[in-house]
Amino acid sequence: MKVAIASDHGGVQIRTEIINLMQEMQIDYIDMGCDCGSGSVDYPDYAFPVAEKVVNGEVDRGILICGTGIGMSISANKVKGIRCALAHDTFSAKATREHNDTNVLAMGERVIGPGLARDIAKVWLTTEFTAGRHQTRIGKISDYEEKNL
Ligand code: RB5
Repeated sequence: MKVAIASDHGGVQIRTEIINLMQEMQIDYIDMGCDCGSGSVDYPDYAFPVAEKVVNGEVDRGILICGTGIGMSISANKVKGIRCALAHDTFSAKATREHNDTNVLAMGERVIGPGLARDIAKVWLTTEFTAGRHQTRIGKISDYEEKNL
């Protein structure tokens, strides 16, 4: 599996934590910034490039972190083919892989700490989609995208 990861200035600490986790798990990753130091950046400028890498097949999954995770998740979900989950607990992280086959995970560094973020990312990275009736449901999302975008 290959993962693209990015954060804005509000998510640098968790991004570093998740990069460390992926190194430990021997998961191939692309770090797409931000290289923002103490400066402020705009989360859509990081969410869209990561989401595009997922839909064009350069990577399998994306992970996005901002202050709340909300801006990143809204932005990523604007990209056709992206199913991004904002998850701040491990139950949701597992369920959203099993039920929604999410291809992007968003988290908020002003909401949770790095330890919980690590646990969430680990569960999300290692849980498989269960398909079956859930495939029908995500198929309806894809059909809607095809007709309306
Ligand atoms: C940046 O101040 C903050 O708005 C951003 O990190 C994120 O929380 C937006 O949803």
